[in-house]
Amino acid sequence: MRLTIDTAKCSGHARCWEAAPEVFDIDDNGYALPLDREVSEPVDAAVRAGVAACPERAITLS
Ligand code: F3S
Repeated sequence: MRLTIDTAKCSGHARCWEAAPEVFDIDDNGYALPLDREVSEPVDAAVRAGVAACPERAITLS
């Protein structure tokens, strides 16, 4: 599966990073850094938690 962040949708909530700091990274203002990478299945619970945590639906797992 592919994990991506649409940084244009990111509003700097930093909830993805709070849920899974080992997966997501943010800048000094709390905005997600670009991310586009493969994740193996079964998808790690931390990845799913980070995706679900974003209120802007900026993170996609497809
Ligand atoms: Fe941005 Fe959503 Fe994370 S708004 S910082 S991608 S929780």
